Order: sequence, then C-alpha cells, then structure tokens
Amino acid sequence: MDNDQLVEQVRAMRPWHQDIEINDQVSSGKAFSPDGKLLPADNDNVSLISPRIRFERRAEVLYPEGLAGKRFLDCACNAGAYCFYARELGADYSFGFDVRKHWVDQARFVQQHREGFPADRIEFREMDLYELPKLELEPFDYTYFSGIFYHLPDPITGLKVAADLTRDILLLSTSTATQAGNPLGLTLAYESREKVMSGVHRLAWFPNSPEILVEILNWLGFAEMKVTKDVSNHKQRNRTEIVAAREKGRLEGLEGELKIPLVEGARPHIDWM
Ligand SMILES: C[S@@+](CC[C@H](N)C(=O)[O-])C[C@H]1O[C@@H](n2cnc3c(N)ncnc32)[C@H](O)[C@@H]1O
Repeated sequence: MDNDQLVEQVRAMRPWHQDIEINDQVSSGKAFSPDGKLLPADNDNVSLISPRIRFERRAEVLYPEGLAGKRFLDCACNAGAYCFYARELGADYSFGFDVRKHWVDQARFVQQHREGFPADRIEFREMDLYELPKLELEPFDYTYFSGIFYHLPDPITGLKVAADLTRDILLLSTSTATQAGNPLGLTLAYESREKVMSGVHRLAWFPNSPEILVEILNWLGFAEMKVTKDVSNHKQRNRTEIVAAREKGRLEGLEGELKIPLVEGARPHIDWM
C-alpha cells in the first residue's frame, strides 16, 4: 500500500482517538492534517490524543534500562498506541485488548502497515476486561489501566483483574467525580453503551478522589503509590493518574505525590456485633 492509499484507509477508519505513527510520513493524525491535529467536530466528537511523550518519559524513569525482558499489558488498548510504544522501548511482548471491534481493527491495521517501527510480538484482542482471566495469561511487568475504570459496572473487580496479572507496576488513569463530604466514595453514573469511547455495561462509577484509589490499590497488594497527575478543579469531572508499584521504594525518582494509605486507626470501620 503506498502512502496515498494508506491515508485514504486511515481516513475511512475514523474516528481515531490515538495518533500513532505508521511510517515516517503517515500517522493516524497526519492522515488528516500535516500537524496531526483533528478536531472532535471532525472526528465524531472523539478527541485525538498524542500520548507518546508522556509514555516515554514515565518509562524512562520506571525502566531506565528500557523494557527488554518485560511483558506489557494494556487494558482498553483502543488503537494500540501504548503497546506499540512499549515494543519500541524493547518490551518482549505487548498484549492489548479492547471491547470494541472498531478500535481493535485500527490497532491491527497499524500493526499490519507499520514500517520503521517494531510491530512483531504484539497481540490485540477484541474482548471485555471481565473475560481476561479466562485467557490464563502469564503475568505482566507493566500494566496500563487508562481510561477504563469509570466505564465499568464493577470497577474494583475490573481493576483486580488487571492487578492480579501485574507483578511490578500498574498505571491507573481515570476521570474522577467531586462529591463534597464523600471523598472516599464512588459516584454512580449511567452511560451510553453505543458511543465508541464509552463502556458497554451502561452502569459506571467515578472515584471521588485519588485517595479512594490509593486505598483500593493498596488492598490489591500494591505497596507504593504516587499521584502523577490530579486535575481537581472542582468541576463535576476531574482527572487523576496514579502509578502503583508492588515494592516499596520502587517509585523513587518518579515525579508526583507519594500517597500513604490510611493507617489502621484512621480507616472507616464497621464493627458488627
Ligand atoms: C476513554 S477510552 C481510553 C482508551 C485508552 N486506554 C487511552 O487511555 O487512550 C475508553 C476505552 O475503553 C474501552 N472499553 C470500555 N469498556 C471496556 C471493557 N469492559 N473492556 C475492554 N475495553 C473497554 C472502549 O472501547 C475505549 O476504547
């Protein structure tokens, strides 16, 4: 396929959420404009993001020797950007899955046509997070759980599915809700099952603060947590990003606010008679 045909195909596959390089001239964003920008109004209301730099900066700190010998898992992989970046940094294997055919088709299209970047030892699956344990996969070193927590009817079980497969680091990026007086709660929401960026179960929950996520991650067996982004501007929906590590001290050097889970005496307790 020459570049003109590639561009035509990429355009036909819109909307795109992730700008990914396919060769040194064509990316899923550059197929629409020379600077890779595509407004939501021209993209079925989906925002196009370029997450490469953020991914690479974080990986440089967490894995200064690169990702050689590491297994990378991306939950809700969309068009597969993080799986491709992890392979570029030397990961042995990347596995990404998404519940929507639309996105998995994009990921496989990029994989099939990538030139000048590694595209082998990457697998994509169209599947629901809750089905993941059935695959009985080997554990992963580094897991992305980005943009999926708040699309789940039971986000704690969902996060546990990913955590149980993670032996080193898990990145959790999620929208949050502001609920005065209930920082350690989850806020109920209903979402469309049909919109391409949404979940498929209709019922969804927004965490009310980074602190509630720290408690859940600690309960899931992570010893150290850092909030690397927290946009709490007191509007209805905010954004939080937390990096969690199995081992204490593992996140030294990573910029962010170290979070200590609640100590026993401060934990909300219910003592039934
Ligand atoms: C906001 S996008 C986030 C995409 C990507 N992870 C990122 O950070 O750029 C939400 C993604 O979650 C996927 N998704 C929603 N519910 C899912 C589920 N139960 N299992 C797997 N993927 C799901 C959607 O299809 C969509 O690709």
